[in-house]
Amino acid sequence: MTTNRRKFIKASALTVGGFLINTNTIHAKDTFASTAGKGVRKNVNLLSATDPDLIAYKKAVEVMKARPASDPTSWAFQATIHNDFCPHGNWFFLPWHRAYLKHFEDICREASGNPDFNLPYWDWTEFPQIPPAFLGANNPLNHQKRTATPNSTASGEFIGKKVIDEILKLESFEDFASYNSTVPRPADPNEGGTGQLEGTAHNYIHGFVGGDMGSWFSPLDPIFWLHHANVDRLWATWNDKGNKNSSKSSFVNFVLKGNFRNTKGETVDVKISDTFDLIKQGYNYDTQGEKEIAFANVASFQFVESTKSEITNTFATKKLVAASFALKSEPFLTSDVKEILETGKTKNASKQVKAILSDIEPPAEEDFFVRVFLNCDYLDKNTPINDPHYVGSFTFFASNHSHNMGTHEGHMQAKKLKFVLDITKTLSKVVNTSSLDNIANNVRVQLLPIPFGANNPGRLLPGKIEIVVTQKTD
Ligand code: C2O
Repeated sequence: MTTNRRKFIKASALTVGGFLINTNTIHAKDTFASTAGKGVRKNVNLLSATDPDLIAYKKAVEVMKARPASDPTSWAFQATIHNDFCPHGNWFFLPWHRAYLKHFEDICREASGNPDFNLPYWDWTEFPQIPPAFLGANNPLNHQKRTATPNSTASGEFIGKKVIDEILKLESFEDFASYNSTVPRPADPNEGGTGQLEGTAHNYIHGFVGGDMGSWFSPLDPIFWLHHANVDRLWATWNDKGNKNSSKSSFVNFVLKGNFRNTKGETVDVKISDTFDLIKQGYNYDTQGEKEIAFANVASFQFVESTKSEITNTFATKKLVAASFALKSEPFLTSDVKEILETGKTKNASKQVKAILSDIEPPAEEDFFVRVFLNCDYLDKNTPINDPHYVGSFTFFASNHSHNMGTHEGHMQAKKLKFVLDITKTLSKVVNTSSLDNIANNVRVQLLPIPFGANNPGRLLPGKIEIVVTQKTD
């Protein structure tokens, strides 16, 4: 295990005998034995400008863009696959994008003439700006239509280390990866539901980059593929922590038929369970096999907390309205909630309390996001996200553009949105269990729209908010 030890050196980090120390984490790097001879997807911000993966990617983009849109291995056709098939807001989201990336990576190998090419990933948590390799004039990796500038910094509220750590601690596959649906694009808006990796980090980055990235044709921007490689990496990280994907047969045995294309342009079917094992698919991430060491083990090294706080509200002219919603008193049992809160067991608990926000009209403008609070009497736009009443935030992805709901129906349809948030922890902090006898009168879910820019936030119209108690199944 001592051969081929990988070392990363980067500007803000020291490497000491295989320990990597950066501003807020301490990692040990060791060989991930099973990746030997396999493709390793690497952090784009740690690659030099002349790294073969970057050179090959540039070449692939140029070659694919020069191909006619009718060619399945062309840049335009690949983006159309996304528009026509990609599932969002349900549990097909992660495996679909994993298979999509893998087939794209193969096409890039062929197009670039470099069979060793591996798609890099963009770790927006560590590097919350557009990667420098994707900027600059006459660079095939640049994309004209982005709204993010080279100086824009993605907000820690959605992609910061704390948020991602919390998401990686989720134990249920559906909470992590989005919820059960019979098909990738269900006609019934009540099927599925957006989980936290998708609704918080993933959606946010689409809007943050903006331009094509905010639409169903987001793969037109070369950064799309690295964004999704990072989402895919976080799924692998979550699995590496011992968390299991859903084993429901309606999921694992589902076959995505004809969605993807191989290097010859032929359609390919992918069974969901075949996406689970990265090694079988011939790749891995450079962060796999990395173990976090308890800080106490390396106490002689200096530990510097990140001091960034990026959450600012710069608007003042218009009034922000925090909407409060009374609960639908169904379907939960007060006694269940009491039990959860009184035992204080929010970790490894078999039951959780969740807020389901559904029937949400897709907002006309996606220039705002939504913070969710519980029972905060003094809530206003300045209430910080470390307030005990804060639950989480979510944002939107291309929800205002209707997309083709299926090749058979062939008609366009805007999808009502549904978000699911685990409120167990916040509830246990802010609700007095002695007042729980009438929980419906004692819990308020509050939604606070926050604009990304200086403008008045758009309107959010949720049809329904429910509090439910869920029982862990897998
Ligand atoms: Cu199907 Cu992040 O897009």
